Amino acid sequence: MPGYKISKVAAREVLDSRGNPTVEVVIVAGKGRNSICASAIVPSGASTGKHEALELRDNEKRFLGRGVSKAVSNVNSIISRKVIGMDCRNQHGLDSLMIGLDGTPDKSRLGANAILGVSLAAARAASAATNTPLHQVVGKISRNRRFVLPVPFCNVINGGRHAGTSLRLQEFMLVPVKAASFKDAVTMLSETYHTLKGIISTVYGKGAVNVGDEGGFAPDINSAEKALVLLEQAVGKAGYKGRIKFAIDAAASEFFNGSYYDVGKILQPSDLIDYYMGLIRSFPVVSLEDPFDQEDFGSFAELKKKSGIQIVADDLTVTNLNRIRTAVSRKSANCLLLKVNQVGTLSEAISAANLAFKSRWRVMVSHRSGETEDSFIADLSVSLGCGQIKAGSVARGERTSKYNQLLRLEEDYGLKLAKF
Ligand code: PGA
Ligand code: ZN
Repeated sequence: MPGYKISKVAAREVLDSRGNPTVEVVIVAGKGRNSICASAIVPSGASTGKHEALELRDNEKRFLGRGVSKAVSNVNSIISRKVIGMDCRNQHGLDSLMIGLDGTPDKSRLGANAILGVSLAAARAASAATNTPLHQVVGKISRNRRFVLPVPFCNVINGGRHAGTSLRLQEFMLVPVKAASFKDAVTMLSETYHTLKGIISTVYGKGAVNVGDEGGFAPDINSAEKALVLLEQAVGKAGYKGRIKFAIDAAASEFFNGSYYDVGKILQPSDLIDYYMGLIRSFPVVSLEDPFDQEDFGSFAELKKKSGIQIVADDLTVTNLNRIRTAVSRKSANCLLLKVNQVGTLSEAISAANLAFKSRWRVMVSHRSGETEDSFIADLSVSLGCGQIKAGSVARGERTSKYNQLLRLEEDYGLKLAKF
């Protein structure tokens, strides 16, 4: 008989993809020969929303630059003491207990990074202890049985805070809308990625093919138009015209100064709507994330109505039930970006997804710019049946770990690719 009772919870500092320390949590359930061991690593954002749950970082104690030793010790002392003895399959119970232990609205006492590490590791422990694949364990928690592979939104040109170039908008993504399978989608993406590399190298020089935080190229271009022209050329040359469309994450809070937006030129909020409409008319842009500042529910709604395309809320809603409710009632978006570390527990992330579905929104599961080799979100995207994932480029190990896990799930469980 496998043991379900948690017998050990331990955290340590490990590195994320930017070379910053982050939290890894290990959970042991059962004792002796029947015990299982599972772990999870917490990601970290750069263009973080103002209303996200708090990632606890040290002020003084440093480990390769900045540390998470307080979050680690919160797991090893406060959290582990309460969690040991609980059933690892009791995800809601574990998450509620940690939310109560923390007692703050933004998880600032124990740290969302501490709590999330335990929450994700517990789901993996339940998977190991019950010998059930992770996507099925999480599917049961979210009461979803329709498992599909997500359409990957592949970020091949990085700007904003992920690149440090003059390009203000943060992400330019390829969306394979007509792929026969997930494997086919990955093939289309990697061929286009390499074609794009050749084009950027020819036009902007060899040094311009260095990549940004999410594995996309980061040529020093100064406008969204130039990025979209590059995508158009690459898709055409690779032979995927009409089969690959484009998506943008503007991450506009990062270039809003309180009264105007700087997209390489200065624009008032109403001008920015026209600017986006121009891009949507000129290029096959099917999805636009965070087009305005994180407090501007009204402009989001106006653009959604005018454009008719998918408008994704990330910094606007931060995977938070109250913010989602406001965005739904203001008609600000029609797709929720779901980041587990914005809210801090798996249960709350699932509740956010279910609220979005109930409100007739779509859901796109997302990585962070500071990622790790942990591929939890790949299973999560399948378990929710949401049909969309944002996992960066098809290069760099912390990004490919998600693509590779989805390739495995496709092959092992015969799952179908969602339609966009
Ligand atoms: P972040 O970027 O992880 O730096 O917040 C990702 C995003 O904005 O979607
Ligand atoms: Zn975003």
